[in-house]
Amino acid sequence: MPQTPRRLRSQKWFDDPAHADMTAIYVERYLNYGLTRQELQSGRPIIGIAQTGSDLAPCNRHHIALAERVRAGIRDAGGIPMEFPVHPLAEQGRRPTAALDRNLAYLGLVEILHGYPLDGVVLTTGCDKTTPACLMAAATVDIPAIVLSGGPMLDGWHEGRRVGSGTVIWHARNLMAAGKLDYEGFMTLATASSPSIGHCNTMGTALSMNSLAEALGMSLPTCASIPAPYRERGQMAYATGMRICDMVRADLRPSHILTRRAFENAIVVASALGASTNCPPHLIAIARHAGIDLGLDDWQRLGEDVPLLVNCVPAGEYLGEGFHRAGGVPAVLHELAVAGRLHADCPTVSGQTIGDIAAVARTRDTEVIRSCDAPLKHRAGFIVLSGNFFDSAIIKMSVVGDTFRRAYLSEPGSENAFEARAIVFEGPEDYHARIEDPALHIDEHCILVIRGAGNVGYPGSAEVVNMAPPSYLLKRGIDSLPCLGDGRQSGTSASPSILNMSPEAAVGGGLALLRTGDRIRVDLNQRTITALVDETEMESRRQAPPYQPPESQTPWQELYRQLVGQLSTGGCLEPATLYLRVVETRGDP
Ligand code: FES
Ligand code: MG
Repeated sequence: MPQTPRRLRSQKWFDDPAHADMTAIYVERYLNYGLTRQELQSGRPIIGIAQTGSDLAPCNRHHIALAERVRAGIRDAGGIPMEFPVHPLAEQGRRPTAALDRNLAYLGLVEILHGYPLDGVVLTTGCDKTTPACLMAAATVDIPAIVLSGGPMLDGWHEGRRVGSGTVIWHARNLMAAGKLDYEGFMTLATASSPSIGHCNTMGTALSMNSLAEALGMSLPTCASIPAPYRERGQMAYATGMRICDMVRADLRPSHILTRRAFENAIVVASALGASTNCPPHLIAIARHAGIDLGLDDWQRLGEDVPLLVNCVPAGEYLGEGFHRAGGVPAVLHELAVAGRLHADCPTVSGQTIGDIAAVARTRDTEVIRSCDAPLKHRAGFIVLSGNFFDSAIIKMSVVGDTFRRAYLSEPGSENAFEARAIVFEGPEDYHARIEDPALHIDEHCILVIRGAGNVGYPGSAEVVNMAPPSYLLKRGIDSLPCLGDGRQSGTSASPSILNMSPEAAVGGGLALLRTGDRIRVDLNQRTITALVDETEMESRRQAPPYQPPESQTPWQELYRQLVGQLSTGGCLEPATLYLRVVETRGDP
């Protein structure tokens, strides 16, 4: 068995003769399910398996089975596995929104990693928020940590065509509203997108964030893209279990890997992937918990002009299986490295640098993963916008339609602006209640505005900004209208919405002052959005009683709202960001 040269953290619990009473208490109870004192006092690394899978979290549920392969890897590398649960984070199941719980799972995991006898941890990730929650906690605590993604579902198929999870629902709801699909047809089409275990097979938030975890260097090469049911997934679980033991012996910690340069790489990769609109807040949150001041200006500066290389839904055509067969993240790294767009020297959990991984990787299907010379789209990252009634918002250029893009890509100063009449909704319930109201006179010259959907207004912030037009427009073939709001949208949405507007209405953002009928001017070249309302009128609106968000429904919602920041700065619990590298336990002998 490989020997560990230095005393491990877990030995403070299990092998401390100077504090025999406490040591005895720790040791005796961990024996009661069959571990031996010899194992616990052998100096072997104790490796946590942070289990995010459960019946309530179906996207990650197969981690329960994968953990057996992780345990085997840990044992074979000389470690002792200890699996424990993480607060469930199920994007499709949690009401009002799973985003409310990212920070709760983070807090819980920090306490576990800090307070229990763990030398390292395998972070089982998958569904959207599981990846940032786990990485944020690993960054805060700073014990050796490695990501094991659960992998996407197999590709969905319906009547001979690929159907991607999430994305198909946004498409099908329009068909249903237009009277082209009934309830049964809707359900059949939607469920066809989920043919197996795994997380979303689209390049939604799950596949995006797992790919960014790999690009950051926090998982082994190809970990993100292996479809959940493939045999390689179990093999990756085994290799990950083995590798974490070596990382503990080498004391390779998140703080060595999660550097500013690693985050800069991740921003570039996000653009090339056509990644989810949820990636900016999640990546910013991970960075802040790693002590790195990453912001939207970094996304604008580093990501905006990167081309779209990955041809996956919603920005493209293919799904997880195609992405994996084409080479997954290493192939994307290869293409970006060839074009000189990456920091090659960033270390990874594998022991190789990002440059090492990129150098040996090859693209096996250039239809699915393009080169920087022949991309799907140029300048495909996020644009960061500002305006006279808010500080920042984002739009994902890889899903912006061709006409609009052509204008945007033209010379600066050229006309690429439009004006629209605002239709303002107070949160998702109000939108659903009134979108069909003929009195609103919604037509193709309108912009749908939603507020009260940010971190404080709709705790966690709702994925609602990709609002469908009223059914009478859908029946006329108008299947999208410009949308704008302080909420988010699903990473599986192809809507070119203007999202994550900060500050949100519920904390006094100027979005609260807009009224239905206001003219809004959007100018992507200037990166501005302007409410064409004169200042006297705005001032009189400011005198009106401020916007009142709805009451909290649970204790956590109340605490969350008191402590959370805006989406532009990652939606972190602000006091939590003051705690960095908390690995040492107070009162340690
Ligand atoms: Fe869980 Fe998409 S809903 S990954
Ligand atoms: Mg989502």
